[in-house]
Amino acid sequence: MKPVRLAILGLGTVGGGALKLLQENAAEIRRRTGREIEITHVGTRRPRPDLNLPASIKQSADLLDIVRQPDVDVVVEVMGGIHPAYEVMMEAIKHGKQVVTANKALLAEHGNELFKAADDHHVQVAFEAAVAGGIPIIKVIREGLAANKIEWLAGIINGTGNFILTEMSEKGRAFADVLKEAQELGYAEADPTFDVEGIDAAHKLTILASCAFGIPLQFDKVYTEGITKITAQDVKYAEELGYKIKHLGIARRSSKGIELRVHPTLIPEEELLANVNGVKNAVLVQANAVGPTLYYGAGAGAGPTASAVVADVVDIVRDIIYTEDGSGTIPQLAFEALSDLHILSSDEMTTGYYLRLNAEDQTGVLADVTTILSRTGISIDAIMQQPRLKDLIPIVILTDPIVESKMNEAIAQIQALPAIHGEIVRIRLELLDN
Ligand code: HSE
Repeated sequence: MKPVRLAILGLGTVGGGALKLLQENAAEIRRRTGREIEITHVGTRRPRPDLNLPASIKQSADLLDIVRQPDVDVVVEVMGGIHPAYEVMMEAIKHGKQVVTANKALLAEHGNELFKAADDHHVQVAFEAAVAGGIPIIKVIREGLAANKIEWLAGIINGTGNFILTEMSEKGRAFADVLKEAQELGYAEADPTFDVEGIDAAHKLTILASCAFGIPLQFDKVYTEGITKITAQDVKYAEELGYKIKHLGIARRSSKGIELRVHPTLIPEEELLANVNGVKNAVLVQANAVGPTLYYGAGAGAGPTASAVVADVVDIVRDIIYTEDGSGTIPQLAFEALSDLHILSSDEMTTGYYLRLNAEDQTGVLADVTTILSRTGISIDAIMQQPRLKDLIPIVILTDPIVESKMNEAIAQIQALPAIHGEIVRIRLELLDN
C-alpha cells in the first residue's frame, strides 16, 4: 500500500514536536494505522539545517505552493496566527487535502467558514491540538460522550495562566518573572497577552462549546476576563474562606440560552479542579447520562501538543484507508445541523461572587452594605472582616448565585457609599456542583 503523504507547515514548538514524534514513534504509529506516513514537505520561513531532515523532505517558504502539490494528502498547519494560516488552509481544502491544525485562534475566529469549505470539498479539518494540549477533550466530547446531552463544562484551559497563578500562590513569585519562564518553556503564545488576558482560553472555549452544544463558533460572544488583576491579597482571603482562585472557561446550557465565559473564579478548595496546578489543564464535563467526568493533563508544550496533532493524523490516515473506495469522509462539524441557541450576554449570566471592599471603620457601614445586597435580592453566603489595613477595614463577602445585572446594580450602590474607598474587587465563584 502506498504511504499517506504529509506536509507540515510551521516548525516551531508544535511543528518541531510533531516531526520528532512522527519519527521517534514511527513503528508504533505504523502498527496503529497499517500504513506508512511519509513527510514529503515542510513549510518554514527560514531553512532549518539544524533539524538534519532527510533530503527526501522538501523545505520551502512558499506555503500556498506546498498545499497545491500532488504528493501531499494531509496538511498539518501548526504555524499559528490568523494570516496567512487562513489563506493557506483554505487553499489546502480547495485542493482536497485533509487538514490537521492546532490553531485555536484561527478556528475560533474563522472556523465557520473553514468548516463550511471543508464540508463542500469533502475533507476533514481535525483540531484536537487546538484545545487543552495533550488532553483528548475534543475526541471525548465528539466520541466518548456522544450519547449524552452536555449540560455544562468548566475547564482550566490555559497552561500559561495556570502556571503563573500556581507559582504566584505557592512560591510568591512575581508575575513577569513566571511569564518569562513560561515563554522559555514554549507554553506562552507569541503574544503573551493572549494568555494573561484570557483570549487564548476564550478561543478554546469557543471551540469546546461548538462541539458540546452543536452551535456555530461565536468567539465574539464569549465574556472574557484575564488574570492580570488578581492580587496576592485576594488569593489569601479566598484561601482563608476555603476557596482557590482559578482561571476557568465555562460553557453552560440553561433554559434561557448558553453562557460562554472566561474569568478568574473562586472554587471550593476540595474540588479536583482547585488542585490542578502548574501548566496542567483539566476540563470537567457535566453530561446528562454519564454525570460529571474530568479530564486532566498537560495543556501546553511540544510533546503534549504534538501528541494531539499526531493523533489526528492517525485518525485521518485510518479514514483515508476506510474510504479509499471513494465514499467520502465525515466532516468534523455537521453544518446543516447547527443550532441557533441564544448566547447570553454577561448581564444575563448567573454566578456566585467574592466581593472585597475597603471601608472606613464606622458604625453602620456593614449594615448599609448588607441592606443594599438584601434590597437587590442578593443572598450572602459568608462575610469576613479583616484587620485594618492603612486606616481601612477590608470586608470580604461571598454571595449565592445571582444574575450579573443585579450584582452590577448592587456594586454601583455600594461603591457610592461615602465610607467605601477604592474600587470594589469582584471575582466570580462557582461551586461546580449539579
Ligand atoms: N499558550 C497556550 C497555553 C498554549 O498556555 O495554554 C497551548 O494552547
